[in-house]
Formats: sequence, structure tokens, C-alpha cells
Amino acid sequence: MRLIPFHHAAQVCHWAAHYIAERINHFAPTAERPFILGLPTGSTPLATYQELIKLHQAGKISFRHVVTFNMDEYVGLSAEHPHSYAYFMQEHFFQHIDIQPQHIHIPNGLAHDLNAECEQYEAAIRHYGGVHLFMGGVGSNGHIAFNEPLSAFDSRTRVTALTELTRQDNSRFFDHDITKVPTHALSVGLGTLLDAEEVLLLVTGDHKARALRAAVEGTIDPSWPISFMRLHERSLLACDRCAASTLSSPPELADINLPAGELPTHYELIA
Ligand code: GLP
Repeated sequence: MRLIPFHHAAQVCHWAAHYIAERINHFAPTAERPFILGLPTGSTPLATYQELIKLHQAGKISFRHVVTFNMDEYVGLSAEHPHSYAYFMQEHFFQHIDIQPQHIHIPNGLAHDLNAECEQYEAAIRHYGGVHLFMGGVGSNGHIAFNEPLSAFDSRTRVTALTELTRQDNSRFFDHDITKVPTHALSVGLGTLLDAEEVLLLVTGDHKARALRAAVEGTIDPSWPISFMRLHERSLLACDRCAASTLSSPPELADINLPAGELPTHYELIA
């Protein structure tokens, strides 16, 4: 696992967009050989989506041969519900780029048989030969996607119960009313994420400092799902100074003028 500490959240998100674009362009996807990209929701990746849209509008990246798999979706919300992740993705990303609708995958939280939906989701990822790059965020309790603390490292896409803290955190999208936040979600598993060729997590803000510390210091701890990323040789945590503020040895901050898409030369190698 590599830790890439930037000064500000905006730099993290800007760098991440260029890194993703560079990965896709380097792969040179075609109809027969698409690039498989895993995507998150949340407020953290918004600026990354905005930058990817700008790059697309400037003709620097096409998503025509990119297939996407979102990390998660709330149980009980339709794609038309303004707080569903399907709605979020259309609104903030998909409608602004040239992705083909049939290439978009988001678990269906209204499926009649949720377990079958999860199995089909995993099968669809397998059908494409796995995910090339999974971008993600992290919850303040260290959850990734909706893999809450004590999720198994080899878990697959499944129905998960949301913790009180996660529902509290996410209530800001539901009129600050926790009773409106669904209690369950469909989420890719930690095993699904660890199977990706590469995982890029964006970790920004003071409220993510404990999660970042758990990820990079001490033992791999199921109470902090993010720490399982240490099992992945090609996992990258891009963080800002606020999130890195409680690390016992403050990392050297990366230069924002990095050549687009490149790894900084002074990242910290954690595991
Ligand atoms: C939700 C999502 C996660 C996301 C987390 C953090 O719980 N399921 O995938 O990482 O929120 O969101 P934010 O980026 O808004 O802090």
C-alpha cells in the first residue's frame, strides 16, 4: 500500500482524476477490450468527477469503452430517488460523459431477490475479467463502500446493515434526519475490492484522520475495514494534510505539480 499525502483535498481530487484518466488512456480500451472502472459516491469524489468531466470536455479522455461498477446502493431506493446512488451517479458524472448506458452497473436496491442481485453483480464483474481500477472513499469509522467494521476480508457483494454512525454521517443527505436513512445497503465486499488490479482511496478531512491512522499504523484490524487495503500491493491512499494530521510521523507532502497521472516519487510505502 502506498500513501500519497497532498496539502489540500482539492489537490487529492484533482490528482486522482488525472491518475484515472492516465490509466484509462494508457490501457487504450476498445469495444472488445474495455477498461473496467469501480466507482464510489459520497462528497469526497465529487471534485474528482468534476475534473474527469472537464478532461472529457477537453477531449482528453473518452469513456466510450469504459465499463463501470459502482460500489454500493441503498436498499429500498429507486434509481429515480434523489438520494439513491444511481441518481447521484447520473447527476454528477454519467450524464456529462460519453459512457454507454449498458456499460453502467449499479446494484439494484429494489431487486425482488436481493441475494440473487448480489450474486449477479459479482458474476457481471467476473464476466468482464475483474476490475482494473477501483476508486473509493472511506467512512469516518473506516468503512469502504458499505463494508462496516468487522466485515470479512474475503466478503463479496451482499446485503449489509449500516451502523448507527454511518447512518448519522449520511443523514446530511437526508435532511439531517437519521430516520430517513435506509438501514441496509447492497455493497461490494472487501474481497471484491481486494481482487481489483488496483485500488485508489481518497481520504480527506479531519474526520477521516482516525481511519487513515488505522489504515497505515498498527496491525490490520477488522474493526477498521480500510486497514485491509494493506493486503493489496497496488492500493493507493491519496490523503490531505488534515487526514494525515494524527499520524505519528507526519509524511512529506507531495508536490501538486506532479506530471498528470504519475505517482509522486516520495509516496510512503506502508506495506
Ligand atoms: C458512504 C459510501 C462510501 C463513502 C462514504 C464516505 O457511506 N457508502 O462509499 O466512502 O460514504 O463519504 P464522504 O466522501 O461523503 O465522506
